[in-house]
Amino acid sequence: MSSPAPDDPLAKLQAFWNSRYAGDEFVYGTEPNDFVVRSLARIAEGARVLCLADGEGRNSVWLARQGCRVTAVDVAAEGVAKARRLAHASGVEVETHVADVTRFDMGHDAWDAIVSIFLHLPAKARRALHRRAIEALAPGGVFVYEAYGPQQPRFGTGGPPEAHLLHPLGDVVADFDGCAIEHRHEGVRAVHEGRLHRGDGYVVQVIARKRG
Ligand SMILES: C[S@@+](CC[C@H](N)C(=O)[O-])C[C@H]1O[C@@H](n2cnc3c(N)ncnc32)[C@H](O)[C@@H]1O
Repeated sequence: MSSPAPDDPLAKLQAFWNSRYAGDEFVYGTEPNDFVVRSLARIAEGARVLCLADGEGRNSVWLARQGCRVTAVDVAAEGVAKARRLAHASGVEVETHVADVTRFDMGHDAWDAIVSIFLHLPAKARRALHRRAIEALAPGGVFVYEAYGPQQPRFGTGGPPEAHLLHPLGDVVADFDGCAIEHRHEGVRAVHEGRLHRGDGYVVQVIARKRG
């Protein structure tokens, strides 16, 4: 990935996340996200899985430990470096890329599952990413999404404070028009993930399957 100018929005995004991930602590922990664990039953054995905005690698590494063939993408080089270390320490392989997911070429019919956990994009970018992700999924492939919803700032337990990054369930479901929606949910759940996701939070969850 080429280096953008310091005032470029992408450079600012990278600086924010790289500074968050600097240091040895895994700020979202090393255990997988609960919703990813619950969703494994919907992902075929040996599946090709793409983890979007995978951060420090807790989800990609856990999926690789379950036998999936995993590729992880994140914009923050510091996070990706930690993901590589976690994979090595766990004895699994994860292909990693430092890239902006809104520009990353996901290919066509290339993945059995795409996983997006706590990636908070503006609405237009979110929708465009999800429409491209449908193209990138193989027929019968599944998209697994969890993010904080619009009510989350009241809880103050993690996630961005900016309202334009927090999307209602209906908007996310609409992104997957044409897919089978296997799971849709919004509500409060306990999220305990490292130091930065601490306590009851308002989450939006979607599992969408590309029709075969
Ligand atoms: C709250 S963290 C979640 C990380 C990981 N999914 C997890 O559950 O542990 C959000 C992640 O989104 C990444 N991110 C934000 N915008 C991105 C973009 N446009 N392209 C790639 N990664 C992005 C950040 O670098 C960060 O790692």
